[in-house]
Amino acid sequence: MVKVELKNVTKRFGEVIASDSVNLVINDGEFFTFLGPSGCGKTTTMRMIAGLEFPSEGKVYYDDKDVTSLPSFKRNTGMVFQNYALWPHMKVSENVAYGLEVRKVPKEEIAERVEKVLDLVGLSGMGDRFPNQLSGGQQQRVALARVLVIEPDILLLDEPLSNLDAKLRVEMREEIKDIQRKLGITTIYVTHDQEEAMAISDRIAIQNYGKIRQVGTPQEIYNKPDNLFIATFIGKGALLEGNVTSIGENISVDIGEGVLEGHNTGNKSLEEGDHAAVVLRPENFFLKALDEPYNVLDGLIEWSSFIGAVTEVKILIGDESLLIDAPAGREYVSGESLKVYIPKAKTVILPWMELD
Ligand SMILES: Nc1ncnc2c1ncn2[C@@H]1O[C@H](COP(=O)(O)OP(=O)(O)O)[C@@H](O)[C@H]1O
Ligand SMILES: [Mg+2]
Repeated sequence: MVKVELKNVTKRFGEVIASDSVNLVINDGEFFTFLGPSGCGKTTTMRMIAGLEFPSEGKVYYDDKDVTSLPSFKRNTGMVFQNYALWPHMKVSENVAYGLEVRKVPKEEIAERVEKVLDLVGLSGMGDRFPNQLSGGQQQRVALARVLVIEPDILLLDEPLSNLDAKLRVEMREEIKDIQRKLGITTIYVTHDQEEAMAISDRIAIQNYGKIRQVGTPQEIYNKPDNLFIATFIGKGALLEGNVTSIGENISVDIGEGVLEGHNTGNKSLEEGDHAAVVLRPENFFLKALDEPYNVLDGLIEWSSFIGAVTEVKILIGDESLLIDAPAGREYVSGESLKVYIPKAKTVILPWMELD
């Protein structure tokens, strides 16, 4: 098992800066995810950790060993790609055994290890099939088995579930998490799917334009976004724009239809008069207990949709529409006016930034 450290790692392809001054420590045994929009540099950063790409600047360490220019075959890592990359003419067991044969492991030991790993990924008894006799989910398990069988120090997974349908994706991510827990292997995962990242990771690094914008547990990133990009990239939420009217224990922002009080979770401070954003998550609204003296807004129901556990209600406040998860036990009639309340502790205020 290995701890991975990136020190000021930058990778340029001509004019493009794919990874920009990345500083990170990925702990031994951790499930760590790079999350960000397509083209933000996730794969490039992972490939530098694997030794499939080399930094233009900066250093990569495994524990305290500098591996910056060590090629991938000299690092004991295993990487799973989005397109399973199985050999179609080889049986499942042969696909899985290949890495051990290359390493000149004795035949009997190979058979034993292949059987064990196929069992681990839920493919016992399927060793004699060919890849085209397997479903997409099963092929992805073979890809995982093929990497795990070499007992890598680090498991690297680059959007491994993107080719699977939604239901299978959820099942597979739980299985990957389960296997990772069993083995305690340092795992680095790349995805652009924020829900997947939240569900599977111990910690997440959110990357944009090559730079790491925030690193934290799913809870930290969701509840304490460092800036407006993070707050809008993770989870649902409404944004209200306003100006800071006072700074005290709480920060007050005048949004036009009223003043909201909350706290700045960001990494930049706010001053009176600053342009700010108020971020409100759907699950943090209340429609009751409206004798509250703060953070009550007048709204008008636009539409509602019953989705099971809650009813999603779109409410117009001034000229902004907010999505609210409301209790499912009653009707929400379009055109009805109502008051909504957001506790101060749940009201996130951040310095305004232009988003693209
Ligand atoms: N081998 C390469 N040559 C040139 N440009 C590349 C190469 N690999 C990646 N890039 C560019 O670097 C940026 C980051 O790419 P990538 O790391 O694949 O992002 P992600 O995995 O987040 O989608 C993109 O602009 C991409 O076009
Ligand atoms: Mg990628």
